[in-house]
Parts: sequence; structure tokens; C-alpha cells
Amino acid sequence: MKRAEPPAGLPRHVAIIMDGNGRWAGQRGMPRTYGHHRGVESVRRIVRHAGERSIETLTLFAFSRENWGRPPSEVSELMSILRRFIRSDLDELVRAGVNVRVIGERHSLEADLLHVIEDAETRTAANSRLRLVLAFNYGGRDEIVRATQRIAAAVAAGELSPSDIDETRFSQYLDTAGWADPDLVIRTSGEQRVSNFLLWQSAYAEYVFPSVLWPDFDEGAFDKALAEYATRERRFGTVAEPIAKP
Ligand code: IPE
Ligand code: IPE
Ligand code: MG
Repeated sequence: MKRAEPPAGLPRHVAIIMDGNGRWAGQRGMPRTYGHHRGVESVRRIVRHAGERSIETLTLFAFSRENWGRPPSEVSELMSILRRFIRSDLDELVRAGVNVRVIGERHSLEADLLHVIEDAETRTAANSRLRLVLAFNYGGRDEIVRATQRIAAAVAAGELSPSDIDETRFSQYLDTAGWADPDLVIRTSGEQRVSNFLLWQSAYAEYVFPSVLWPDFDEGAFDKALAEYATRERRFGTVAEPIAKP
């Protein structure tokens, strides 16, 4: 994706663990799925706003591998929410220049959902205003294992030698191959854990944990997280000031 460098202090890649839908609904005496439906409104707001803020990549954690452990009715509702979101918003996303990509284990998804995902990726492939990555049936460990299986297959086929495998090569086998790592990871709802999200890619990400629940997350909350990010000093293991030569 060719584009100008973002202004200093602005993350290129923001990744969000959209958490707190169930609690938001519970506070209103409503079923958890009501919170998921309202969460889609936050997705729309934040996708629009991230584009306006010149973010290059926005990754949204929508369904984890571990979320299969939820009640079947909630799981099937989450599947149909993704399907309906893509169906209803795809034209708008195409017009807005959004490039939609989905990461996660996709082959075990139902055929019609897979079809909708592939259609969204194909129809938005030429777009470059914002890359919207939906992490669906995604788990960081699973992604690393799937990458390792493909690397092992390439070695077994004689296409790759074990000594060729370094961090750069390994990254090329991940679902996120070719994209910048997340600079900023936001997790809403006050929970302060990673929950198997982008384990490899977030090695040096900055984390922000706003207490707001996902359905209440809006443009102002996003800007607040960006402002917090801008105050962080990223060192990547080095020291802030160059060491004076003796
Ligand atoms: C996040 O909200 C959405 C998904 C995990 C799909 P939750 O459903 O986890 O809401 P809480 O954490 O129970 O409030
Ligand atoms: C993480 O949230 C997954 C998504 C936001 C899709 P969870 O609510 O599933 O995570 P835990 O169970 O609190 O760690
Ligand atoms: Mg949760």
C-alpha cells in the first residue's frame, strides 16, 4: 500500500480488542447479543474515523478461537452479525476506499460466511485509503502454528532450508504478511490482558486500556487513545539518548 508517512506521533497501525459488549447489555437488563449488535455501530464509527485520522491499518478483534466456548446461540449470532455487517456495509466500504482483509483460521467457517469474506476481500482489493483487518476465528498461537506448518511443508518440499528461516521470513507466513506491526493496541472495557491477540506482531506495540465498554467507544475515545500513544516513548530495547562516545 503506497502512501505518505503519517504525521509524527500517529500510529500507522491501530489494533483494537473490542471488549465489553456483554457487560454493556447486562447493565441494561438486555441479552448479551444486544450488546454485540450495538457494538457494530461502534465499528462503523471507528472505521470512518480511523480513515479520517490517516491511520493506515485498523485491525479489529471480532471473534477469537476461544469464543467458540460461548453458548451456541451467542456464537451463531456473532457469525451472522459478521455476515450481515459485510453484506450491508460492503458498498459503502468500497466507496470509502477501504481495503477489507480477514485474518484467522477461515477454512472451518461455514461456506456462506467464507463466501461473503472472500467477496469483501476481492471487491476491495484495489482500495488503499484504509486497510480494515477483521480478526475472525483468530488466535495468535493458532496463527503461529499455521505459519509453522506451512514453513515445515516448504522445508519438506525442498523449497526452503532451515537456515533461511529468520524473523523476516517467518513473518511472511503469518496472516499479516507484508503489513506494518501494530503500533497501538487498544482494549476497551478495562480488562488488561492480551487474550491471544496478535502475539507475534505486538512484540513492541504500545497498549492503552480505556475503561469504556465497546458499544460506548466513540471518536473522542479513539482520539484520547491516540493522544495517549503520542506521549509514549518507544525505545524498542534501545536507550532514549545516543550514548556519548568515550
Ligand atoms: C466483546 O464483548 C465481543 C466478543 C468477544 C465477540 P464480550 O462479549 O466479550 O463482552 P464482555 O466482556 O462479556 O462484557
Ligand atoms: C477477546 O475478548 C476476544 C474479542 C474481543 C473478540 P474476550 O472477552 O473473549 O476475552 P477474555 O475471555 O475476557 O480474555
Ligand atoms: Mg469480553
